[in-house]
Amino acid sequence: MKNSETIGLTPAQRLHFDIYGFVLLENVLNGDEIERMKGALYRMKADEDLDAKSVYARGRSEHHILFGNLVAYDPALLEYAAHPQLVPLVEEVVGGAVRLEESEAIINRRNPDTELSELHKRRYNPTGFHRGTQHGWGTYMEQNKFHCIFVKTLAYLTDVGPDDGGTCVIPGSHRLTWDHKEMIEAALSDDKLIYQVEASAGSVLLFPEALIHSTTAIRSDKERVILISGYTPPMVREWPGNEVSPEFVETLPEDIRPLISGSDSWHWKRRY
Ligand SMILES: [Fe+2]
Repeated sequence: MKNSETIGLTPAQRLHFDIYGFVLLENVLNGDEIERMKGALYRMKADEDLDAKSVYARGRSEHHILFGNLVAYDPALLEYAAHPQLVPLVEEVVGGAVRLEESEAIINRRNPDTELSELHKRRYNPTGFHRGTQHGWGTYMEQNKFHCIFVKTLAYLTDVGPDDGGTCVIPGSHRLTWDHKEMIEAALSDDKLIYQVEASAGSVLLFPEALIHSTTAIRSDKERVILISGYTPPMVREWPGNEVSPEFVETLPEDIRPLISGSDSWHWKRRY
């Protein structure tokens, strides 16, 4: 689906989001943005003093690393979190102004311990279906449209084909109140209930955290780089570990300070 010139989801994108619980926004990031964002993340990977920069790193191994609390590390990563073509779309599905709740990135490649033949036995290899909130709490209907107060934008900074670890989702699960384990088991028993994203570098997956989603095991030899921002209304707090220092906030242009700091708090500007 092509994103239109005007900033807002097209009716087709919004319908896709409401029915399936996600929409893939193609070609949001240009080549220059992709290179600068990837460059910052690879510098981060080589940086031995991340603690001093308030960045957290988890699950570090030969083939995988996750970073979090990224925005103060490099301007390119801040630009992604405050991206003018993405934040308005997030606000549309949250239903009002948002704050940054977390920023994370993953650089990974195929786990050499996993037999390739094992990974080819199944069509999809989700590594851990989960959701951050569920329908009934954290979601609401407003003017007949689905909304969620916890929304993510996940950017693919590398091309992601069928074997390259695209995000797996259970389409439609964002609107269900089923026990999540029951839903995951049911979906895993029939491939038709799962969708795996394929995307070109620069595409962004917009989804509510009420959608059940998972990383997928990589089967190719390609390295995958993804960059994720999470957003909530401003009175909701950041995910622990994603606190942005007041000193950094002061260096920001005034128009993005509330987005990065959550300073609007209960003065929530609704879109309705
Ligand atoms: Fe997640």
